[in-house]
Amino acid sequence: MAHDSVTRALIPAAGRGTRFLPFTKAMPKELLPIVSTPTLEIVIGEAARNEITDVVVVLSPGKGMIADYFSPNPDLEQALKAKGDQKGIAAINRAAELVSISYAEQVVPRGLGDAVAHGEEFANGGPLAVLLPDDLVDDRDDVVGAMRRVYAEHGGIVLGLMEVPRSEISKYGCVAPIGEAQGDVIAISDLVEKPAPEAAPSLLAIIGRYVLPPEIFDAIRRTEPGAGGEIQLTDAMRLLAGEGVPVHGVVFRGRRYDTGDKLDYVRAVVQLARRHPDIGEQFNQWLVEYVSEIAAETNPGVAQ
Ligand code: G1P
Repeated sequence: MAHDSVTRALIPAAGRGTRFLPFTKAMPKELLPIVSTPTLEIVIGEAARNEITDVVVVLSPGKGMIADYFSPNPDLEQALKAKGDQKGIAAINRAAELVSISYAEQVVPRGLGDAVAHGEEFANGGPLAVLLPDDLVDDRDDVVGAMRRVYAEHGGIVLGLMEVPRSEISKYGCVAPIGEAQGDVIAISDLVEKPAPEAAPSLLAIIGRYVLPPEIFDAIRRTEPGAGGEIQLTDAMRLLAGEGVPVHGVVFRGRRYDTGDKLDYVRAVVQLARRHPDIGEQFNQWLVEYVSEIAAETNPGVAQ
């Protein structure tokens, strides 16, 4: 049976971003920049690279600045034109040209499952990709493209997975695989949200990339609040898995950057700044010198 092509994606951006207070008192976490590009734009770029044409961003009240960011700014554009700043003009219009963007509003933050429920109308009876903007995938690597191909073959649920150390698994949704992976693709029998390390059925963590079938919306309606008192997407997927909906994972072995907390965010900025077209080369040179200075400070006895 042929399955519909995955061309629509939902990006949840309704969280309060409390790990980034005080910045997030007035600014959406999803606009935190990697050098000068918001993380949300980077994720939308990943969607566009993978033949996603339409994106719905789920916002909460007070996060309208995200919609402003993706709207035209005629005054600014005029000012840039007057200066002949073509590069600036291209930069301010790039995000909106990548995909067609619409918005949904999640008034009460009830969890990821509830945020996804806001995409039912947008999905229009077809499959829906969900991309979490805390997870960035290097533009030289692919996971969503492979997930779209697995969906075309098997339908059902397709998850982006990554092997993590046991000490990390309780930060993620975790899957119980059936048998061995075929290449990078693995069949899954069950899922559990944020298991205790000793209870985890595997070390395969769900990274924030999903392809969901239309049945997910009914499953979310039937899902009781779970971990943290929230409607968990993992629990809704688990319900479908139990009812025989096929679940597959694509094991991603590429470069992923987590921007979910302060330390991970700073690491992501450093890693990505090293390849930035404007500053990458200079930043790299400086970083090498700086690291050797730090090493000398930390081990003053060691000859450089
Ligand atoms: C969410 C999901 C979790 C997934 C993770 C990936 O958790 O609930 O299953 O593994 O994203 O980043 P959160 O990071 O919102 O706590």
